[in-house]
Amino acid sequence: MNDKQGLTLALAKGRLFKQMAPLLKVAGIELLEDPDVSRKLEFPTTRPDVKVLVVRSSDVPTYVEYGAADLGVVGKDVLDEHGGRGLYEPLDLGVGACRLSVAGRPGSDWENARQLRVATKYTQQARAYFSEQHETPVQLELIKLYGSMELAPLVGLADVIVDLVDTGNTLRANGLDELKVIRHSTARLIVNKAAAKLKHRKISDFTANLARAVEAEKL
Ligand code: PRP
Repeated sequence: MNDKQGLTLALAKGRLFKQMAPLLKVAGIELLEDPDVSRKLEFPTTRPDVKVLVVRSSDVPTYVEYGAADLGVVGKDVLDEHGGRGLYEPLDLGVGACRLSVAGRPGSDWENARQLRVATKYTQQARAYFSEQHETPVQLELIKLYGSMELAPLVGLADVIVDLVDTGNTLRANGLDELKVIRHSTARLIVNKAAAKLKHRKISDFTANLARAVEAEKL
């Protein structure tokens, strides 16, 4: 169970964690072990009242929604896919900038296709995009995948994918083009609504410290 007194923060490993670590450090929080090396999932920090849970990025909003973590850091794209139930989103952290894009084989005539198979982890946003933004009415088939989406157009599983693009290296390495940017995204601090009341002082201090760290990074 979540510690009644302290703060529990849910973070995902990988790229976003690497970008968050310097911000957390400025806010006075450092993990006592490297989560990329350790197999642990729960980490004490240099602040005895703050612990970190390391979870999959798509699970961060769920941990915070149910109060298993008071706070979390997650991409806006992942947050919107979750729906943001039970959460406040007080701070744009500026890190983890990426875009949600349509990608596929070079020269793909996807915009004129009457039928389109789309592989994605982001089914809500893909459905919204193709139903609201696409000019030609398409018969849309969404195929939910959980990773390695770039394979789908290569092996004929889908015509295009909707996935996150940062450097574009993964698309290039697989001979795919970024065909259309759907939206831009950055990481957000999220807060459990009940915790925001019960631990008001701690959470507002934490948020203010992190906001100062974000501002300092911009200078
Ligand atoms: C994301 C995304 C792409 C890749 C894009 O995957 O799904 O595969 O990053 O980044 P790039 O444009 O810099 O190459 P991630 O590595 O976060 O892992 P995931 O598949 O578990 O989401």
